[in-house]
Amino acid sequence: MNVLILTAEFEGLAKAGGLADAVAGLSKALLKNVNVKVIMPRYYSINPSTLTRIDALPFVYLKDKQYFFAIYKKIIDGVEVYFVDYEEFFGRDGTYTDKNGEGFLDNDIRFIFFSVAALETAKVIGFKPDIIHLNDWQTAAAAVKIKEDNYFKDTATVFTIHNLQHQGFFKKDRFELLNCSWQYFNPFQFEALGHLNLLKGATALCDTITTVSRKYAKEIQTPQFGFGLNEHFKALNLKLFGILNGVDYEKWNPQRDKFIAKNYSVETLDYKQLCKKDLQEEFGLSQNDAPIIGFIGRLYEQKGIGLIIDIFDRLMQEDVQFVLLGSGKKEFEEFFLSKKAQYPYKVGVHIGYSEKLAHKIEAGSDFFVMPSLFEPCGLNQIYSLKYGTLPIVRAVGGLDDTVKNFTPSDKSGWGFKFYEFSPSALLNTILWAFDVYKNPDIFTLLKKRAMQLNFGWEKVAEHYLDVYRFATVAKKLSDCCR
Ligand code: ADP
Ligand code: GLC
Repeated sequence: MNVLILTAEFEGLAKAGGLADAVAGLSKALLKNVNVKVIMPRYYSINPSTLTRIDALPFVYLKDKQYFFAIYKKIIDGVEVYFVDYEEFFGRDGTYTDKNGEGFLDNDIRFIFFSVAALETAKVIGFKPDIIHLNDWQTAAAAVKIKEDNYFKDTATVFTIHNLQHQGFFKKDRFELLNCSWQYFNPFQFEALGHLNLLKGATALCDTITTVSRKYAKEIQTPQFGFGLNEHFKALNLKLFGILNGVDYEKWNPQRDKFIAKNYSVETLDYKQLCKKDLQEEFGLSQNDAPIIGFIGRLYEQKGIGLIIDIFDRLMQEDVQFVLLGSGKKEFEEFFLSKKAQYPYKVGVHIGYSEKLAHKIEAGSDFFVMPSLFEPCGLNQIYSLKYGTLPIVRAVGGLDDTVKNFTPSDKSGWGFKFYEFSPSALLNTILWAFDVYKNPDIFTLLKKRAMQLNFGWEKVAEHYLDVYRFATVAKKLSDCCR
């Protein structure tokens, strides 16, 4: 089976969030069974001297303007990744946003161009996909071009929603860039409130939709989580599946993690203490046995940052340490920096991106907090489990699917969950976790259980293979009915 994956991010090349981890992990795991190729933009940060240039000068038309572009290639962990290179759109710092976190004003044409050029790239390299797997709105424009292109007449399409908050919502006239029939611009496909909605159109046209957890597939059909498209997804529910993301245990594994002070496993769990000490040193915290709560991620409302802020001073009355790594909304960044100044020996803050610190926090913390407002999958809580760092999460999306609440009566579970999006629910759950921390036997039992769970990509890739087969059949059926 030939599978072509289109993505705006790929781990090790360009990353804004978990999309990069997810696409890299899946494509690597798929290699075992299918012929997979990935296409992404060549952002400015990806040095062309590390890539191989393909000898061709392809072009595409957007409306009536012709765009010549270049194609590069690189093999990463066995996966062939191709790059669409066009200076005007990708020769700048940042993937979707500038250094102040503002979305680029030309993101519409940037990613419509990328989607169309990626399909042209497949032709140039002579790759005839059985499946084209699209990810998030940045690749959505390809869905309609595939429909109108004879080269892809036997290709089935899968669209994965990693985050419904971002849909590619633009002015109606941007649809003209695609040079395709206006019949697709209707309220069941690309039109939403008179505007262009790329994700809506692509999910309507593709043969199968997936989300990155089972719970999220249900949630997006409700007004609370549907971002205005809940009825749309209800109507498409027969082709909608939830597949939980996997973890690349070659990268996220305390037994061979190259960033942490001392490697450890279930058998040598005591060494985790050395990682805790190292984390305390790294952030200038008191060297004591207070429980450390870690947080890594984008500092935006989605991640429930408001709840953490609301309980922060109350939390600091406890014997606790808090370490945060992230960046995003300026007022959130400033809040945490001010708390670091106020509680220098209890609070550690690094505003920015750091792979090394992310690994140190996973290994050195006792708990990992993710009180998200919504969370399609969430990866850090799954990474935490492998490091015996118990997650404290809100029961939404992938957080609910991956964390089983500790139940004192039979000592089952491996984390701490709350349901209501309120500061008191978060605080009470943290205080409950601290009670468990004070009982070393139970705390160790939970840590060891967490470390032995397996969320590896191997199993997940099999689910995707089933989805690819489903999409192939669904396409044949819809072709017959035409
Ligand atoms: P999202 O995609 O919504 O941002 P995920 O939990 O799926 O959330 O994935 C976030 C990914 O980005 C994880 O691999 C996480 O470790 C990484 N990450 C987020 N912020 C940072 C940061 N400041 N430094 C290092 N890694 C980060
Ligand atoms: C999105 C979601 C996150 C998910 C990631 C990878 O960015 O916000 O929950 O884990 O995509 O699928």
